[in-house]
Amino acid sequence: MTIKQVLEDKRKQLEDYLNTLLNDEGDLLQESMAYSLRAGGKRLRPALFLMTSELYGLESEKVLPFAAGIEMIHTYSLIHDDLPAMDNDDYRRGRLTNHKVFGEAQAILAGDGLLTEAFAMMCRVGGDVPAERVLAAVALTAEAAGIGGMVRGQTKDIQAEGKSLSLEELRSVHYDKTGALIRLSVMAAGILAGAGKEDLNALMNYGDRLGLAFQIIDDILDHESTFEELGKPIGSDEENNKTTYITLLGIDGAKKAAAEAADEADRWAEKLSVDGTVLKELCDELLNRRK
Ligand code: IPE
Ligand code: IPE
Ligand code: MG
Ligand code: MG
Ligand code: MG
Repeated sequence: MTIKQVLEDKRKQLEDYLNTLLNDEGDLLQESMAYSLRAGGKRLRPALFLMTSELYGLESEKVLPFAAGIEMIHTYSLIHDDLPAMDNDDYRRGRLTNHKVFGEAQAILAGDGLLTEAFAMMCRVGGDVPAERVLAAVALTAEAAGIGGMVRGQTKDIQAEGKSLSLEELRSVHYDKTGALIRLSVMAAGILAGAGKEDLNALMNYGDRLGLAFQIIDDILDHESTFEELGKPIGSDEENNKTTYITLLGIDGAKKAAAEAADEADRWAEKLSVDGTVLKELCDELLNRRK
């Protein structure tokens, strides 16, 4: 299977599962949650999680609820990221943003609902996965999504608007706001599958470099892609006076930084005790992504 096929396979598996969740008929809360959750998107984080689980011999079907939980947290972060008080964007995943359809108050609540439901989902992993591993993976998720990760990164991102950051400061924003959930996606898989300490460390570093490359490319696409291709507005960063890798290094410098980070991710994938080829292929695929 090519990496494109693997990603498509995982995307489909996740979407089929998501379609069985949320009872949205005549229920405004679940309707607003499902509107963004079922809108598509690349499903990168759950795909990474499922691919890594399989590398360590854990079948996808057994951990799908966890994958769905990760995607719920990511989707909530996007709903809130688009709010007028944050990036103030009107389109996401090719549709009007949640607040444009349901209003600001309900969009905030849809995010709250997704974040909370995510943890209920994750606790549903059962079968032959020992409960203490589930507990450790859920605890790591709380840290990665909140104070120790994504929400902290979003805080730094908003605080930095209109200011010029150093490269080191910007790296730290990306480390938290985007890196945290990507690191989590591979590490939680390792934890649930019972990977050893050295592997967890390599997975963390792999996820870190991949997350950095991913956000640099997001910044590049915000600059040089099109609305049709991305399904979200371009030029959002400039409009909000954000420092990005492009404002600091220029387009070519940013592309070089992304390639370097992806290269480092590859080196970490090589250190795993299992064959990490598919994770290296994923890096390459993401480096050349157009959306
Ligand atoms: C967008 O994430 C926000 C970032 C952290 C860059 P994605 O590019 O993964 O968005 P979807 O899930 O495909 O819509
Ligand atoms: C957002 O980064 C990262 C999140 C945690 C949601 P961006 O603000 O650059 O993401 P997009 O470009 O709106 O998807
Ligand atoms: Mg943002
Ligand atoms: Mg944004
Ligand atoms: Mg962006």
